[in-house]
Amino acid sequence: MKENKIAPSILSADFLNLGKEIERIEEANASFIHFDVMDGSFVPNISFGMVVLKSVSKIAKIKIDSHLMIVSPISYYQQFYKLGSYNVTVHVENTTIDEFKMMASFAKENNKSIGITLNPETPIEQIIPYLNYANIALVMSVKPGFGGQSFIENSLEKILFLKEYREKYNLKYEIEVDGGINAYTSKLCRESGSDILVAGSYIFSSTDYKQKIKELNNENL
Ligand code: DX5
Ligand code: ZN
Repeated sequence: MKENKIAPSILSADFLNLGKEIERIEEANASFIHFDVMDGSFVPNISFGMVVLKSVSKIAKIKIDSHLMIVSPISYYQQFYKLGSYNVTVHVENTTIDEFKMMASFAKENNKSIGITLNPETPIEQIIPYLNYANIALVMSVKPGFGGQSFIENSLEKILFLKEYREKYNLKYEIEVDGGINAYTSKLCRESGSDILVAGSYIFSSTDYKQKIKELNNENL
């Protein structure tokens, strides 16, 4: 089974020691810093934004993967790149295909990556037109807004669909999964064809990040 890249979501990190937390996930072989931006409107929670991103970018050695859960991604995505994100993922629920094409061109011109995602209740068919332009297709496996929720099982069908669609049309996007990832659900995702796994509470609630990140690629569970 293919080993997945791990993207710890710093939503669950200790903010009084954010610099140290980032160092620790880097030492634990994380591939990305997953940066969850919430505005209290698109989702019922407020997290952090540009000011924090600026500080994180200054010290990050690995790539930053920003997930915009905000009302108007078209108004802000360029700033998220300029402040150091490598990937910016936006939601299909509030991004038109024309906006996404524009975002994808901007990302390409700047050697960056663009992702498209969908809420658990959104039919997977809705993201099909976006897949041609996306570097990442992100499956939300919990309702966006909070860390620490349980994995929604039918996300596996979406992963499988994305994998088969990619093969059929010879596309190149990576399949990322976000929400409720632990040692058990990570294996289900990998079996279904995921490439990148986001995990927040599973990693940061532990004291041994290296061990936790390793467990997310465990074959023998
Ligand atoms: C949910 C966020 C996730 C979240 C994952 O709105 O997009 O990235 O932090 O947290 P866990 O791994 O705790 O489900
Ligand atoms: Zn996220």
